[in-house]
Amino acid sequence: MSEISRKGIIIAGGTGTRLHPSTIATSKQLIPIYDKPMIYYPLSVLMEAGIREIMIVTTPHEQINFKRLLGDGSKWGINFTYGIQNTPRGIAEALIIAEDFLNGEHCVLILGDNLFYGETFSNGLQKAMSLDDGATIFGYRVNDPSRYGVVDFDKSGRVLSIEEKPVAPKSYYAVTGLYFYDGNASKYAHMIRPSGRHELEITSLNKIYLSKELLKVNILRGGVTWLDTGTHKSLFEAAQFVNVLQSRQGIRICCPEVIAYKNNWITKSDIMILAKDLEKSGYGDYLLKVCDS
Ligand code: DAU
Repeated sequence: MSEISRKGIIIAGGTGTRLHPSTIATSKQLIPIYDKPMIYYPLSVLMEAGIREIMIVTTPHEQINFKRLLGDGSKWGINFTYGIQNTPRGIAEALIIAEDFLNGEHCVLILGDNLFYGETFSNGLQKAMSLDDGATIFGYRVNDPSRYGVVDFDKSGRVLSIEEKPVAPKSYYAVTGLYFYDGNASKYAHMIRPSGRHELEITSLNKIYLSKELLKVNILRGGVTWLDTGTHKSLFEAAQFVNVLQSRQGIRICCPEVIAYKNNWITKSDIMILAKDLEKSGYGDYLLKVCDS
């Protein structure tokens, strides 16, 4: 399968009001899920997909903190560009903000508060990476689809409909916060009108692709976990998930340093330098263990 080169976008703005007071003084995507900042999880997805050119979209006042954490990306062999969303006008606005950065290239957009994990997940990623035309979204069966974008599809996997937070969902499949687009995404994003909640909905962009019969859905089945972290309860559950998995297996998931090393983007001596600054938290010891194994 030959992969198309893609740029990445992480949208990490928003108001975080559902997590107040925890997010009054900081951005939601910078608070930890167990042992690492939330943004490491979606960043890991892009890195696993082999993407090295990534734009981080934040609120104007929080950009400085993201830069403090992530820098220019060179420590992990990647390149970060920073974009600003002045007010939370919707997820699809990220594709307008990133228009010059994308320069008509294919991209992957991921929400800064989504966590994906699973052995078989990378197969879905590789498949989506290789698609030339159109858009790919990822569906995940949930109990409460009304909270999400919902995708309905037929037996052959053809998308029949996609709706944002429907009162009467046509399926149990939520649309996760991971979207693969061809080079037309920014152009189509300009065509979207604000929704009832005054947002440029990502579902509206996906509907444009659907109307052109260019929307594919990839269902994440058993073995893949998708968690969002919109409330204190779901954030706590995500932290529990990471803790249980890591303690049981003696690993740490979604560490950018480890993925960079495995992708041969940084060397063993690079990772040893990174580990030095992190030794007191145990994270650094884990990095040393990985490059010694
Ligand atoms: O998590 C998946 C769901 O994400 C999808 O199923 C929905 O189709 C999609 O609309 C979105 O739903 P939410 O309403 O839950 O998204 P939320 O407003 O919570 O925003 C998700 C993340 O994006 C959050 O980390 C904040 C960030 N964001 C959001 C908006 C609206 C921004 O950075 N800027 C924005 O303007």
